[in-house]
Amino acid sequence: GAGAVVVFGSLNVDSTSYVDAFPAPGETILAHDFRVALGGKGANQAVAAHVAGLPVEFVACVGDDASGAFARETLERLGVPMTAVRLVPDAPTGVAQITVADSGENTVIVTGGANLALTPEMVEAERERVAAAALVLTQGELPVPTIERVAVIAAEFGARFVLNLAPPAPVSAETLRVADPLVLNEHEARAVGIGTDAPSDATLDEWRALAASAAGVVARSIVVTLGGAGAVAADAAGSWAAPAPRVTAVDTTGAGDGFTGTLAAFLAEGRSLPEALRIAVAAGALAVQARGTVDSYAPRDTVLAASSASDAAASP
Ligand code: RIB
Ligand code: NA
Repeated sequence: GAGAVVVFGSLNVDSTSYVDAFPAPGETILAHDFRVALGGKGANQAVAAHVAGLPVEFVACVGDDASGAFARETLERLGVPMTAVRLVPDAPTGVAQITVADSGENTVIVTGGANLALTPEMVEAERERVAAAALVLTQGELPVPTIERVAVIAAEFGARFVLNLAPPAPVSAETLRVADPLVLNEHEARAVGIGTDAPSDATLDEWRALAASAAGVVARSIVVTLGGAGAVAADAAGSWAAPAPRVTAVDTTGAGDGFTGTLAAFLAEGRSLPEALRIAVAAGALAVQARGTVDSYAPRDTVLAASSASDAAASP
């Protein structure tokens, strides 16, 4: 069937240790909790777009192993179609080793495994899904030639191309230029030359101005996420800042993916960039308040209610 959003992306199994504070190099510490869950920026964003109520198709590779089976069962439970999830025989399912400290901060180490077997040829094989899509979304955890092919095929079929360059990958300037939007956190923004000289305490409004000067130059449109401060966006029509509501972060892992999947879903549905931005900020703020990634994404109605509540609070 046709999907409004096609996600080409990574799928990992996340092994997360919850600790009081991060260990120093050479130090052994005891965690106070542990969980294994579906992750990967691609899978997380596909689930977020699905939870937002859009038809989603997820193109990914898993290994023929226990982690791959677990990941497929989880996607099935969450209702994300798996017709485009391929089993590759010679590589392990991607894995992320995550540490979450009581401060809510995390560290993440990803071993790509089967994700690195997602080739440009596999992207070509999904042309019909792209032809039927309003929007195509990918991230920096796939091989560079694969990301670049996604951009080319999206353009061929007139699908909106959304690129979350997380982690920063050395894709061509041409690939960045067609991204609409290019979604970045502060570090990723600096990696592509946006806000390189901005102080670490730059305000939301300063980032809005930086995004505005990069829109139409670095990428067709730009979104920069600024953690607990909120996010900004800019395109040819204007630039916007969406402050985040004040919340207590329990686990920020995958909150950026919740933001990006939600943003993509509402753009695919036809909302304007500033509208989708505000809704995505509300989704991200909800996601940090619960543990894990995909299990912390709130349903559409909850996100929309939170978003209009914070709009009302923000207006004079
Ligand atoms: O963005 C969070 C994700 O990054 C985790 O789920 C982990 O798998 C890594 O891909
Ligand atoms: Na979370």
